[in-house]
Amino acid sequence: MKWLGILGLVALSECLVTIPLTRVKSMRQNLREKNKLKDYLESHPYNVAYRSNDSDLDTGVQSVPMRNFLDVIYFGNISIGMPPQDFKVVFDTGSTDLWVPSIYCYSPACASHNVFDPHQSSTCRISKQAIHLEYGSGDMTGFLAYDTVRIGGLTVLGQAFGLSLQESGTFMKYAVFDGILGLAYPSLGIRRTIPVFDNLWIQNLIPQELFAFYLSRKEKEGSVVMFGGVNHSYYSGDLNWVPVTRPLYWEISMDNISMNGEVIACDGGCQAIIDTGTSLLIGPSHAVLDIQKIIGANRTRNGEYQISCNASNTLPDIVFTINGIDYPVPASAYIQQDVQGTCFSSFDKTRGSMFFPDLWILGDVFLRLYFTVFDRANDRIGLAPAV
Ligand SMILES: *[C@@H]1O[C@H](CO)[C@@H](O)[C@H](O)[C@H]1NC(C)=O
Ligand SMILES: *[C@@H]1O[C@H](CO)[C@@H](O)[C@H](O)[C@H]1NC(C)=O
Ligand SMILES: *[C@@H]1O[C@H](CO)[C@@H](O)[C@H](O)[C@H]1NC(C)=O
Ligand SMILES: *[C@@H]1O[C@H](CO)[C@@H](O)[C@H](O)[C@H]1NC(C)=O
Ligand SMILES: *[C@@H]1O[C@H](CO)[C@@H](O)[C@H](O)[C@H]1NC(C)=O
Ligand SMILES: *[C@@H]1O[C@H](CO)[C@@H](O)[C@H](O)[C@H]1NC(C)=O
Repeated sequence: MKWLGILGLVALSECLVTIPLTRVKSMRQNLREKNKLKDYLESHPYNVAYRSNDSDLDTGVQSVPMRNFLDVIYFGNISIGMPPQDFKVVFDTGSTDLWVPSIYCYSPACASHNVFDPHQSSTCRISKQAIHLEYGSGDMTGFLAYDTVRIGGLTVLGQAFGLSLQESGTFMKYAVFDGILGLAYPSLGIRRTIPVFDNLWIQNLIPQELFAFYLSRKEKEGSVVMFGGVNHSYYSGDLNWVPVTRPLYWEISMDNISMNGEVIACDGGCQAIIDTGTSLLIGPSHAVLDIQKIIGANRTRNGEYQISCNASNTLPDIVFTINGIDYPVPASAYIQQDVQGTCFSSFDKTRGSMFFPDLWILGDVFLRLYFTVFDRANDRIGLAPAV
């Protein structure tokens, strides 16, 4: 499956000057999956988030199940208001704000998604603060509100969030989720609002100031975002800790990218962000073109990079070295087969509109292989092979 890489999300209101990364899906891809989506939106068995009651380190872990949609995106349930109104959101480490559609939105995207009704919530407070979020293939106009937000067993009071009035473009129209819950640093979010994770900590709802992701491979079930602690049963060995180099995105330094012991990209080091809301491995365009050439992926008319499916059995690992530790990504992970059986490279180049064109973005392709802890207390990321 193929996403359109990363596009800048620009907040334009007088009070907003942030450029969180988010990604939108190409229209072509959306149409390709459109028929599947209807079925998909019908009900599925529900895994109730549980309150853990185990041993020392795991104590207080709050796990929220996520659904893997075709290895393209992972999302889970939250509710907002009293009584609760339910939404599916992407838990996105590449942006900071929370927003969902509202009943005042008449855009096609809002007709096919859950919408929030502030008048049906006794605890909702609406602000006059307008927000306008621009995406590459559409935009969201709305306003800020405050209400109770429930995530698994956690209840955050007075959480600031965006309500959409207008969602143009097609990117949200066929999206399998209603909104986005950002988990990047506060400096990337709407100014003067406290992001969800900061409120979890400030309101004393979690014992440790960290969260972690386990992204299952292929299976719809089994993916988890955990808040306040780490469940060791999702990874093997010890976590390797990497300092966050710039607390905006979850950004780290990478040593190099190699194949067969030869550096193929990021020679002498580069910066990378860990982004649960991005499907692929995104890099600067010259570097990604080199890699496509090395693995024998050819550009199609759509700008995608097609590759022989056989290559996933024959090509060597591509190794991301971070803080002196090797994180191999096998060909079976950097080559993905779509629903028609065509194989594509999982590498994609950054788009022109991206704010930091030299950044690498390690998305779900990487995170399915490596369990990841996002430690806000120590500004570091922990990585270990996922089970
Ligand atoms: C979200 O809630 C719906 C409705 O209760 C349920 O069918 C679905 O499985 C839940 N999704 C996840 C990822 O737990
Ligand atoms: C850790 O995850 C495993 C597997 O999902 C689960 O059985 C166990 O209860 C979890 N432990 C805690 C403390 O959450
Ligand atoms: C947690 O575990 C302890 C000991 O295993 C038990 O006594 C206690 O009732 C449990 N608490 C909950 C809320 O399940
Ligand atoms: C990648 O960087 C690491 C750390 O600087 C270094 O030890 C290693 O030799 C480099 N890899 C290659 C293939 O040069
Ligand atoms: C890519 O192009 C080369 C040269 O034209 C060709 O030999 C190869 O079969 C193509 N690979 C794919 C996957 O189309
Ligand atoms: C892929 O492998 C199969 C069996 O090994 C072979 O029959 C087929 O020709 C190969 N296809 C390509 C494009 O190399």
